[in-house]
Amino acid sequence: MTDTLHTHPLRFVRRGQTVTLHNIPPTRTLLDLLREDLHCTGTKEGCGEGDCGACTVVLGEERDGTLRLGAVNSCIRLAHSIDGMALWTVEDIAQPDGTLHPAQEAMVACHGSQCGFCTPGFVMSLFALYQDTQGQPIAREQAQAALSGNLCRCTGYRPILEAASAMQNLPRHSLDESTVRAQLRALADPKIKAAARKDKASSAYLAPRTLAELLRARAQHPRAQLVAGCTDVGLWITKMHMQFAQVIDTTQVAELRRIEHYPHHLAIGAAASLTDAFAALVADRPQLASFAHRFAGLPVRNSGTLGGNVANGSPIGDSMPLLIALGANVVLMSERGHREMPLEDLYTGYRKNVMAPDDVLAWIKVPKAVPHEFSRAYKISKRFEDDISAVCLAIHLTLDEGHIAAASIGVGGVAATPVRAVKTQAALQGQRWTQDTAHTAAQVLQAEFQPISDLRASALYRKQVLGNLLQRLWLESQGTANVNLENFAATGVAA
Ligand code: FES
Ligand code: FES
Repeated sequence: MTDTLHTHPLRFVRRGQTVTLHNIPPTRTLLDLLREDLHCTGTKEGCGEGDCGACTVVLGEERDGTLRLGAVNSCIRLAHSIDGMALWTVEDIAQPDGTLHPAQEAMVACHGSQCGFCTPGFVMSLFALYQDTQGQPIAREQAQAALSGNLCRCTGYRPILEAASAMQNLPRHSLDESTVRAQLRALADPKIKAAARKDKASSAYLAPRTLAELLRARAQHPRAQLVAGCTDVGLWITKMHMQFAQVIDTTQVAELRRIEHYPHHLAIGAAASLTDAFAALVADRPQLASFAHRFAGLPVRNSGTLGGNVANGSPIGDSMPLLIALGANVVLMSERGHREMPLEDLYTGYRKNVMAPDDVLAWIKVPKAVPHEFSRAYKISKRFEDDISAVCLAIHLTLDEGHIAAASIGVGGVAATPVRAVKTQAALQGQRWTQDTAHTAAQVLQAEFQPISDLRASALYRKQVLGNLLQRLWLESQGTANVNLENFAATGVAA
């Protein structure tokens, strides 16, 4: 039945105009739409999997009365997911008379480009940074964070980072945000939307706006592919050449984009972006900032959602070890009702879970920080940024006068699913927190799992590093600095 479904018209704002496109297949990527349908080839394809940033574009949405811009990877973003948004590509930011945008001008002036293949992506990440900083000076660390999802094989990063600072010294070129917001509001007008969707009872791309609509759509179309930020499903399309007759996109569900603060926990909607979700987690536990920064690159965090990462259940997904350690619960919902469970109980095997065909993951409930806790999350990957973990370890200790009152440990990269280190927790529970205890626990942790060898790391390396991380935890708990890369600032390295 779904083979015959058509899609609703896709409508977005670009270059000050509303663009309306018809019959865009549900799995068409935004990059293919730009390059092949609109013949806008300024945006490049490098890896096609969200790793290199050559395809970076900027999306704009109105949130809480302000225009919010974010850089995303167009190669793994479904075209229909930008319905109702504003889009800027590298071809859209110069002035009509050809005057370059400061992000472009600074790249030229600082010699930030050689072969140029990565340049459109860097320019768009800089454009988003430019808008975000509103003329304030840009520190090197800020620029590094903004460019964390862009790779360059030939220029080297120093000139590009210099361009990030230099663009603020050029004549200002600001967006007319109020006009863009007015255009977005016009797109969101219910009458206009209804007219655009007339005669279409269903669609090959469903983007429900409320939780009730989502649950109904899921119940009616249990075989449709559920997507959120699509930062993994996008690869199924670009790398595995999978096609889906029907897609249900959760990212427009208003309730599931919210992050709610309760006295003892955060309730993070499954459609909250990784950027927003980690901002909330870091506000509660500032020590998680460097871990959050290392979760992929910024464009992936802007598109990807916490719920997508959790529901996807990859054994090397980074949020789950942390959430397990923090004692998070997940809430599954369907039209039949809801149920809540510890996050680790969601998984039954490699990328398998307990969700029924009509279930959706709605909320992730994370206990807030309490006095006397000591929490750390460690990611081991070949690249510092923009990479996938070989091993991920998160540990949450509750200390009471030198004793471990409670230990909670989540691990990734060592089994078919993200897991809780039950034996290691037992080895720590009730013990005095000493170097000997840490050493014993490290041995238990190394013996608790039988990781595999793959392209990211050997089994032996994974075991060794698990034990080393527990030793690092001990040192950090004693106030020892300089035991991790985060302490080594790049300042002055590339003068
Ligand atoms: Fe490499 Fe999109 S083409 S991230
Ligand atoms: Fe060649 Fe960056 S200038 S890849």
